[in-house]
Amino acid sequence: MATFDYVANCWYPVSFATEVKQGELYGHKVADKPIVIWRTQDGEAVAFDDRCCHKRFPLSESKMLDSGTVECAYHGLCYDGTGQCIAIPSQPDAPIPPQARLKKVPCREQDGVIWIWPGDPEAAEQVNPPRTPEVVSEDLTAVGAPEPLRVPANYLLLIENLLDITHFYPLHDGNIGDRENSLIPVQLEEGEDEGYRYVKTIREVEHYKQPPFLQEWFLYDEVDRIHTHCMVSPGLTRVVMRVAPHGELGTEAERGYTLLHLHLPVDSRNLVWRWHCSCRKGHTPRSDPDTPTAYKVAEMFPAVVAQDQWALERQQAMMEYPDNGYNELFLKTDKPLRRARQILTGMRRAEQKAAAERKPAKGKTAQRQPA
Ligand code: FES
Ligand SMILES: [Fe+2]
Repeated sequence: MATFDYVANCWYPVSFATEVKQGELYGHKVADKPIVIWRTQDGEAVAFDDRCCHKRFPLSESKMLDSGTVECAYHGLCYDGTGQCIAIPSQPDAPIPPQARLKKVPCREQDGVIWIWPGDPEAAEQVNPPRTPEVVSEDLTAVGAPEPLRVPANYLLLIENLLDITHFYPLHDGNIGDRENSLIPVQLEEGEDEGYRYVKTIREVEHYKQPPFLQEWFLYDEVDRIHTHCMVSPGLTRVVMRVAPHGELGTEAERGYTLLHLHLPVDSRNLVWRWHCSCRKGHTPRSDPDTPTAYKVAEMFPAVVAQDQWALERQQAMMEYPDNGYNELFLKTDKPLRRARQILTGMRRAEQKAAAERKPAKGKTAQRQPA
């Protein structure tokens, strides 16, 4: 773990689509890459290297003109929606050199999310971003994190945290902390879906006595419950809770939520995390029939997330020390975390190998012929 940085050849969710407005420039850093995003006049979200091809000034801190052209704030080079430089104010009569253009970064808008591929652009053709139908569903009431959370920790630590409910007590003692929850037997499911290797934990339980906060959200004292946590891809973890009175899962009586965790590596020591909580439209909590359940669930989120942030920051700080014989202990309950780590390290190795194979082997570079 100490040496893991990130997977670069992957789709990462940088924002919800509704946040990206025409006429604005948005700067991101994903996997050590500075990226600028904007919407063209046709409404398409496009992404480029954030460095002006002249002197590297960040275009995300420049200006979008009314014509839809981006004007660099330093010397005024202008770019169109394809990244092509179309004006150089200091030499208006000279032809624009062909290399005066921005490097395109693969960008997709899908299911209400903007995805970026920071790695090898050619590899981006091989896989689509994972689906997030919950973000655009008409049947759900949803709440998204108002601001992206920036945490000084490697994103693998967050993915492990999200797959791990054995930390609910003591880390979340006082809100979602529930030791009984952590003791429910876990089934592990692994596989491949839409080009991504996933790892999923499933906790199925009958006649589960819900803690008070779940009784409030989902109405019932005692339920049958299916609770799943799935690392869908290095950019997405989905948590689903379904509850109903005994024997009634899958009927109209069912209640529950879906939490999407959208995560990305800024670099090897920093991550950005967004969450999205949804419940079925019309579902309301026990004591407040006027408030959608999703709002109630989302209310608790900032406090829970702050506790996870607190832990992740401290874990990362301890990663900075040399191992010096330190060995992490893996418990039986850590198996899904271990599998997630193996999936990410496997993807990283594969992309490093592919990059090395693309480079010409040493000594085989073309020799310059004497003139
Ligand atoms: S750095 Fe952008 S125009 Fe010079
Ligand atoms: Fe947590």
